[in-house]
Amino acid sequence: MNIEIIKFDNLGRGIGYIDNKIIFIPKSVPGDIVNIEIIKNNSKYLEGKITEIIKPSKKRIEAICPLFNQCGGCDLLNITLSDSLEYKLRKINEILRKNNINYNVEEIIKSDKQYNYRNKVSLKVNNNKIGYYESKTHKLIEIEKCFLLNDEINRLIKNLDVLKIKNGNLIIRTNYHDELLLIIETNDKIEDFRELIEKFKISGIIVNKKVVYGSDYIIDKINNYLFKISYDSFFQINPYICSKLFDLIKENTFNSKNILDLYCGVGTLSINASENNTKVMGVEIVKDAIDNAIFNAKLNNVNNMKFICSDTKNIIDKITKDFDTVILDPPRSGVDILVLNRIIKEGITKIIYVSCDENTLVRDLNILLQDYNIKEFKLLDMFVNTEHVESFVVLQKKK
Ligand SMILES: C[S@@+](CC[C@H](N)C(=O)[O-])C[C@H]1O[C@@H](n2cnc3c(N)ncnc32)[C@H](O)[C@@H]1O
Repeated sequence: MNIEIIKFDNLGRGIGYIDNKIIFIPKSVPGDIVNIEIIKNNSKYLEGKITEIIKPSKKRIEAICPLFNQCGGCDLLNITLSDSLEYKLRKINEILRKNNINYNVEEIIKSDKQYNYRNKVSLKVNNNKIGYYESKTHKLIEIEKCFLLNDEINRLIKNLDVLKIKNGNLIIRTNYHDELLLIIETNDKIEDFRELIEKFKISGIIVNKKVVYGSDYIIDKINNYLFKISYDSFFQINPYICSKLFDLIKENTFNSKNILDLYCGVGTLSINASENNTKVMGVEIVKDAIDNAIFNAKLNNVNNMKFICSDTKNIIDKITKDFDTVILDPPRSGVDILVLNRIIKEGITKIIYVSCDENTLVRDLNILLQDYNIKEFKLLDMFVNTEHVESFVVLQKKK
């Protein structure tokens, strides 16, 4: 069946029509004419899989990765970087328009690296094979190298067979020094890891939450700040753009005196916001991350910071008009409604909202925009070659 691809959807899949019914086709490019197999048919839409490219789009390029068509990791490796940036801007502007948010985002900030930028990976081990699951399945795609990952992580992956793990989960993190932290969950007995320690700069190995070698954290450096990051604490995955996010935070907190950093992780944004001798209070649900944040404040000689370990919705009484700025950098699920309502009720002057999920961002903006105006809205290409994008929004209380 020949289909012409009309445009991308908001997940980076090509869209076509069969008898006026919409069909989503992953890895197709607008302008392609493709033969497809229908893999899902429900009352509202179809999903298809390319079986043959009859006529490639002028926008299509050869994907650098041989696993691109099977693997669910990258969505946009078959178009140029500049087309992928344009796509991300268009998708955010479309979602804003659909939600009646009257703002046109014009800038997307590029990552300094297009490939090998990720400092963290989660892998599956199935029957001694290491890789990612194929998109939406539990079928393992064995990988020897992933173009998104830091080179040292790729080199370690090639050597992991010495551990002889049959089944389990692996996380690998790295830092500015190319040190590696290896986190393993498995019921198998781990064979000797001496060979890995000889070949790599391993800062720690954690098996089933117990440290079996070195330490349970890694220290990273962004701009001139150092951050201790425990194996289970969040840290931004692309250091080649992270410094630009930090610069945006700094620019936009320049006049702030008292900042509340909700969802603060290991204190990254707080520490960047506090250079101007402001007071900062950070809130974070993960205990290790809060311990890291307290340590990181000292490590960077910042002494005007306080941190609380809690779910944000349990400390809403602490969200008061004493704060002139609130930073929100929530997980993909967005900000709890109780927290949004409290910020509005207290009338905090400025909100800086950093988001990795545009759907929850617009949901939350629709609530905040009753009392706030958008002062600045930029995108950051944090997740290069994938459909995901980071948003940076500054909101100012209406007069
Ligand atoms: C996107 S990360 C941002 C972290 C930090 N701002 C940074 O830039 O590194 C979101 C953080 O929110 C934390 N978190 C998730 N749900 C939370 C909740 N209900 N209350 C407080 N923190 C939460 C996560 O553990 C994670 O550290």
